[in-house]
Amino acid sequence: MCNIGLSTSCDNHGCWRAGEGRESAAMVGRGGVCGRASSIVDTSTLERTYSLNTEIYIQAAVSIMAEVVLVTGPFGQIGSDLVPELQKLHGKDNVIALGHRNIPDDFDGILEKGDIRNYEEMEAIIKKYNITQVYHLASLLSAVGESKPDVAWDVNMNGLKVFLDLARDNNMKLFWASSIAVFGPTTPRENTPQKTVLEPTTMYGVTKLAGELLCQYYFLKYGVDVRSIRYPGLISWKAEPGGGTTDYAVAIFYDAIQKGKYTCFVKEETVLPMMYMDDAIKGTIDIMEAPADKIKVRTSYNHSAISFSVKELADEIKKRMPEFEVEYEPDHRQAIADSWPMTVDDTVAREEWGWAHEFDLSKMTDVMFEELKKKLQ
Ligand SMILES: NC(=O)c1ccc[n+]([C@@H]2O[C@H](COP(=O)([O-])OP(=O)(O)OC[C@H]3O[C@@H](n4cnc5c(N)ncnc54)[C@H](O)[C@@H]3O)[C@@H](O)[C@H]2O)c1
Repeated sequence: MCNIGLSTSCDNHGCWRAGEGRESAAMVGRGGVCGRASSIVDTSTLERTYSLNTEIYIQAAVSIMAEVVLVTGPFGQIGSDLVPELQKLHGKDNVIALGHRNIPDDFDGILEKGDIRNYEEMEAIIKKYNITQVYHLASLLSAVGESKPDVAWDVNMNGLKVFLDLARDNNMKLFWASSIAVFGPTTPRENTPQKTVLEPTTMYGVTKLAGELLCQYYFLKYGVDVRSIRYPGLISWKAEPGGGTTDYAVAIFYDAIQKGKYTCFVKEETVLPMMYMDDAIKGTIDIMEAPADKIKVRTSYNHSAISFSVKELADEIKKRMPEFEVEYEPDHRQAIADSWPMTVDDTVAREEWGWAHEFDLSKMTDVMFEELKKKLQ
């Protein structure tokens, strides 16, 4: 039972205890999410304000109890864009980045270092900052996972289990990143439904599928508020991708700008679901901010925006750079791409928690050119 003492209810657990002690008011997080024992703050200032005006007291309590967020994999492709948005949303002092290797020198924020597989190390960080939410992004991606399947299993599964256990034991809300890699060659490749055949043939996909089921298990068994989306290939300019099969959709922009030509590791007719990073970040924050009763899928949501072939992407680039040339030398990643859907049906996410994308192929290409040209100058 959550200790809510304000005229608001707990979105996550359905708890509402009107008229309980005033000290419990300081345990209320943003948006009526209930507080956690670890989040109790000194209420003396609030007590004085409260004697003047209940509403001000409530507002002060809510603002003091901003969420404290931990991000794993904060300097990867997604984390590099997500962390600054979370800092804007929750305040720089309330976002903790868990670095591992390759930590940028110019990171502006709170930094901790550690390995996600180490429960004690992660627990110490969670207690130190009274973490209330975790965005768990750290993972080995598809192409790297195929070259190191044992490490991929260890990092992806044991790392997730550590955070599911910590979320259960510390009443934290958890975001975990799944992927279109949960689908496999036996899945319908067009308009892939939310519920469908899931028989992935990569170690990465196996860990994502097992991870989805583990998330659902922790929700059903322990009530852990875990939320997840199946990202498609993500296109961004801030950080380079970390060894996935859809990396070509980013690399093509770098090589277009720097060399005027690109050699692609999948065939020109290869179509995969993709998304511009700003849309992915919006979806990630939206699902975490949605009331708990809107999140009905506790495995992971299909999450889609645009699908295009490499040729269509190259043609879009040629509209802005007519001299651009592409050659095709498919390698082992072609087989991975061929095992994934071409288009994904994400109606369930759109209906249940209001997911909507903004960037189409043309708009995404414009932004990638503009930002990468500045970055590479
Ligand atoms: N980028 C995409 O296109 C895409 C698509 C689908 C799903 N995803 C998923 O989204 C999440 C984030 O992806 P990304 O592209 O930002 O990944 P990335 O490879 O760019 O970054 C992952 C980060 O995890 C960190 N890491 C790896 N092992 C660690 C460990 N043992 N302890 C602590 N940190 C460790 C690495 O340092 C790296 O910075 C992953 O779970 C990935 O599977 C990404």
